[in-house]
Amino acid sequence: MPVPESVIAEIQSLREEINSHNHRYHVLDDPQITDQAYDRLYRKLQQLEQQYPELASELSPTQRVGSAPATHFEPVIHEVAMLSLENAFDDDEMRAFEKRLIDRVASTGAALAFTAEPKLDGLAISLLYEQGKLLRAATRGDGKTGENITANAKTLPSIPLQLTGEKSTGMIEVRGEVYMDHAGFNALNDSQAKIQGKIFANPRNAAAGSLRLLDSRITATRPLLFCSYAIGRAEGSDLPQGQFGRMQYLRSIGFPVSPYIELVEGAEGCIQYYQKILSQRDSLPFDIDGVVFKLNDIQQQQQAGFVSKAPRWAIAYKFPAEEVTTRLLDVEFQVGRTGALTPVARLEPVAVAGVMVSNATLHNMDEIERKDIRIGDLVIVRRAGDVIPEVVSPVASERKDELPRPQMPDRCPVCNSDVVKNQGQAAYRCTGGLICAAQRKEAIKHFASRKALDIEGLGDKLVEQMVELEIIQSIGDLYHLEFSQLAALDRMAEKSAHNLLDSLDASKATTLGKFLFALGIREVGEATAEALANYFRHLDKIIAADIEELQQVEDVGPVVAANVVQFFNQVDNLEIVRDLVKQGVHWPKIDKPRASESQPLLGKTYVITGTLEGFSREQAAARLKLRGAKVSSSVSARTSAVIAGEKPGSKVNKAEALGVEVMDQAQFEILIN
Ligand code: IVH
Repeated sequence: MPVPESVIAEIQSLREEINSHNHRYHVLDDPQITDQAYDRLYRKLQQLEQQYPELASELSPTQRVGSAPATHFEPVIHEVAMLSLENAFDDDEMRAFEKRLIDRVASTGAALAFTAEPKLDGLAISLLYEQGKLLRAATRGDGKTGENITANAKTLPSIPLQLTGEKSTGMIEVRGEVYMDHAGFNALNDSQAKIQGKIFANPRNAAAGSLRLLDSRITATRPLLFCSYAIGRAEGSDLPQGQFGRMQYLRSIGFPVSPYIELVEGAEGCIQYYQKILSQRDSLPFDIDGVVFKLNDIQQQQQAGFVSKAPRWAIAYKFPAEEVTTRLLDVEFQVGRTGALTPVARLEPVAVAGVMVSNATLHNMDEIERKDIRIGDLVIVRRAGDVIPEVVSPVASERKDELPRPQMPDRCPVCNSDVVKNQGQAAYRCTGGLICAAQRKEAIKHFASRKALDIEGLGDKLVEQMVELEIIQSIGDLYHLEFSQLAALDRMAEKSAHNLLDSLDASKATTLGKFLFALGIREVGEATAEALANYFRHLDKIIAADIEELQQVEDVGPVVAANVVQFFNQVDNLEIVRDLVKQGVHWPKIDKPRASESQPLLGKTYVITGTLEGFSREQAAARLKLRGAKVSSSVSARTSAVIAGEKPGSKVNKAEALGVEVMDQAQFEILIN
């Protein structure tokens, strides 16, 4: 029987979805869905692939262990692959696991013994020791190749640099989990908030992000923990013949081993242990997402062997995410720092994992539509990774009448500015920029920050206080502040009020680049602001530039260009910018380019098509721009010439039809030199 088209499409789309989540999780350290949601997708795909083996593919995410390492650490090949674990989600799956093993290994009929320990939610690493000395530490990467993070691993106090005991000769490779406990995680986020650094979504991201920092001095300040759980390989030492004994051995030579580790018997012993740890879960000082069971007998482990991604002799029995149902009363929209509007569910209050919940995230409009969530629905709510509650789905069978769909407002609920959705992005944004109250505080903090106008003494707390008291509305009000207003503030002595006025005055002398950066235009960072300033040299030219012109600046693509245009199209933004200048914000004139940097191609426009040897499309465009030319993506009668590399597209035909010159690689090289 042929496989239904719909199944082929579903497998394809699951693979793409999982691949993209894998990338976000493993490479970017920035997941967009919870582990449980990911596990569901993965299992769905696994199940379909089992059902339709003819659709198997080497490229399927089920066929690999993780994702490629990032490029900035030296690669490390794992001589013994770092495997993953199969998952069980209920007692029957645990019993099936035991049964499979009995069939494979237990000839005597005696019950199987397993080690049992919590499954820490961090990241796996490998530690290689020779003659008792830590030689190398590596992340798991894709299981075959990881990253060399020795310098960072050495900063963890719980990782022994030198093993203890006389047995520590020869070579041993130890594996375990790097993680962060709740206290460490909270302290880290607090201090990150103070320095306006990255705030981590959960302890696992914080651990992964901290271990993969290029500067190990920063890693050293992060509260990372390590717990060992396996031996990868060993030479020159007689290891105990049981997994449990081996863990005691590791403990004896200096490794942290879970204090919760136990030996249990059979599937029923596993299930009991699981229940016990589950009941302690909320009071543990760190996140766990299940428990891990490993066949204790090493010979039996060898008999059982492996499947492609995991050993047959081990399993992770995953905890359920705590889910409850409640009524979705309304959907409101919250405006974030960058103006993104996030739908927030207002719920009939309900206890989830011991915490009363009346708000939950709905992520974005695409999710609401995909799940078909309606206002008034009974919905399933869960605490994702025990952090932010989320609405999982509606209980469709409970919907009696036609219910209204949540609508994205076309106006910002805070400032009434237009709400827009940029192409290809899930988020809707308020275009209010500097006038939107929700964005104002952050915008002012950014304006005052060191790399922007550097207003000494204008700290976050002060900004918040002043915005709340409506002493300032936007950055435009900063230079109108008067002594009497400042002196009346909490904890503001006369002297500090004077000092602040002085530093406000001093901040007016800046550079065009810093000023542009300070405005907080979306995706215009320091470097882009500097490049815009150097290219246009005058604020008015930047304000007047259109999208095409802006893209002539190196590193400015269509998205950034559109952000700039949109920013200056808002009358309120423009008024604030003009007023800042009127209040005395100024910068030195930027000199015209020197003669040696003259721009012979000024006024010319080129279109590039096909592949140029030795140049990427971006590099070729950059070289042309450097000489003053514009580069466009479409051919018109005004195009100066089309530059055609290997395998040119239809643009050459269009050029010929319009009588526009077509240049080859050699002519291009003369042009840029
Ligand atoms: S054993 C041979 N034990 O879970 C099997 N893994 O989902 C290798 N993990 O990559 C893993 N706690 O990062 C094992 N007690 C534990 C664990 C544990 C957490 C992680 C580890 C692994 C992942 C597999």
